[in-house]
Amino acid sequence: MERKQGQDRPLVLTGIQPTAGIHLGNYLGAIRSWVALQEDRDCLFFLADMHAITVPMDARSLRDSTLGGVATCIACGIDPDRAAIFVQSQVPGHAELAWILGCHTPMGQLERMTQFKDKSTRPGASLVGAGLLYYPVLMAADILLYDADLVPVGEDQRQHLELTRDLAERFNAAHGPTLAVPDLHISQGCGRVMSLQDPTVKMSKSDGNRLATLFLTDSDDQMRRKLRSAVTDSGQEVLRRGDKPGMTNLLEIFSALACIPVEELEARYAGTSYGVFKNDLADLAIATLAPLREKFFLLRADEGYLLQVLARGREVARRRAAATLARVYERVGFLGPAKSLP
Ligand code: TRP
Repeated sequence: MERKQGQDRPLVLTGIQPTAGIHLGNYLGAIRSWVALQEDRDCLFFLADMHAITVPMDARSLRDSTLGGVATCIACGIDPDRAAIFVQSQVPGHAELAWILGCHTPMGQLERMTQFKDKSTRPGASLVGAGLLYYPVLMAADILLYDADLVPVGEDQRQHLELTRDLAERFNAAHGPTLAVPDLHISQGCGRVMSLQDPTVKMSKSDGNRLATLFLTDSDDQMRRKLRSAVTDSGQEVLRRGDKPGMTNLLEIFSALACIPVEELEARYAGTSYGVFKNDLADLAIATLAPLREKFFLLRADEGYLLQVLARGREVARRRAAATLARVYERVGFLGPAKSLP
């Protein structure tokens, strides 16, 4: 698709599900990398609250997590004067385009998606709502609604992006060129922060072990305790190695927080011990994350401001979405947006 007039800067779009507790993995793997993108591109960042209800979700905690997510984005450096921050359910175009795309999506393709297969075969899966099957269609709509050029996501979202490209191509083949097909750009770097208690699994907000996950809202003491009790491997050498998954994870976290290559850290800590390294890592984490935590709490307490940021973001998003939807509606033969009576 050709770029439309007036849109000469590449458009970055990405979403994050509002969940209680943003952790170090979300920060290093996603949010922090968005901050640099806003320098020279138009950016749309949204809280995917409609995706969040594909599993049972308590209303009060969803509202709280959504506003908390906005506060986190701003605290971590996303500037609402440069980037549009909005909430998915406040831009109806996401649901509208998802319906149309869904009508162009073979059921079998959705049933074969890894995330659906994983979740629908777990115990208690008879309670899985159809929304979980439809999840990737909604995500495709999120992206295609804005003619996004770049969609920064982690490796775990690759299949969803491939489906998005597929759906855009299928729609274009059926109706003529309408939707921009986004490039696939999977973020590298510190995309995978592992659990502090079991370095073979990803850090997750829902880990049963309280010490496994470093939350951005943790106090200094909690951060220090979690990092000092992080599982390490036998031996004392501070090295990144296949047989040292615990130390490898901690080195990668240090490296990402300090922007220092792992090799340099290995050289710096040669001949010291795990204890020395972990202490320094705790100091670094506190120095880096405590200011974000303080900003977060200030912002979270000011709901009026957060809602104002969202209202501005929503307008930017709606304007862009309306252009795509008008094209799509015309292609499928809908009469177009209803006009109010004179
Ligand atoms: N599925 C993504 C995740 O869980 C969140 C998401 C929803 C998203 N819609 C999106 C990411 C559109 C990028 C673009 O991380």
